[in-house]
Amino acid sequence: MATGTEPPQIHKGVHGRTRAAIGPRHLRTDRWWLAPALTTAGLLAFIVYSTWRAFANADYYAAPYVSPFYSPCLAENCVPMRAGPNWEIFGSWWGLSPALLILIFPLGFRLTCYYYRKAYYRGFWASPPACAVAEPHTKYSGETRFPLILQNIHRYFFYAALPVAGILTYDTVLAFRDEHYTWGHMGLGTLVFLVNIVLIWAYTLSCHSCRHIVGGRLRHFSKHPVRYRLWSWVGALNARHMQLAWASLFSVAFADLYVYLVASGAFDDPRFF
Ligand code: FES
Repeated sequence: MATGTEPPQIHKGVHGRTRAAIGPRHLRTDRWWLAPALTTAGLLAFIVYSTWRAFANADYYAAPYVSPFYSPCLAENCVPMRAGPNWEIFGSWWGLSPALLILIFPLGFRLTCYYYRKAYYRGFWASPPACAVAEPHTKYSGETRFPLILQNIHRYFFYAALPVAGILTYDTVLAFRDEHYTWGHMGLGTLVFLVNIVLIWAYTLSCHSCRHIVGGRLRHFSKHPVRYRLWSWVGALNARHMQLAWASLFSVAFADLYVYLVASGAFDDPRFF
């Protein structure tokens, strides 16, 4: 008599002949679906918001603040800005939003990030949906084949993320000027930029590639005390990589939203001094 727990007859994937013959898809009794559901909702919200803002090509500069989505300016079609670096290396032929020239680097960095990979593999591809929950796919090649083998370029995106963080640091320093470019200003926007840049650096330096760069390929830490110290600091940040990934994702979106609200006239930047 059928009990409803017999293994399915498809002998592929987690139901392959070499795997334990467990009928149910999982034996978990907790709300295992909650984390992937929240992850998917959070990432979708960011994708929708950042796509809108990247293509908007408007309201990204309100002196002295320049949106992190649009800095540095690499094309001539940027609005005139005296905050933030202007390296118009793409000249006048670029007719699309200048944000598209910049966002490829932070986007590539996050897309190939070890944490985000786990997050969107689970959230969007259910591969697997959660620990100890069988995935629906019948084949698994990991990241050994095209296109996922390209995830290995993450370390190069880490190198690209460093100057991006440096430029956003420069923009934050310039946020201490007022709208007439006189030093000594501090508004709510300056504070928003400060929090954002701290989180951006914390996320960038907590990268697993960074940890390997500062502390990897060593036989004896005792012979490399400086690298050991750096590795300890990066390791402490690395332990919070997931939290920093989310915090910096929200902070960079919020910094952009803040500039949008001020630039569009929906909000006045309160000044502290
Ligand atoms: S592993 Fe997440 S940024 Fe490098």
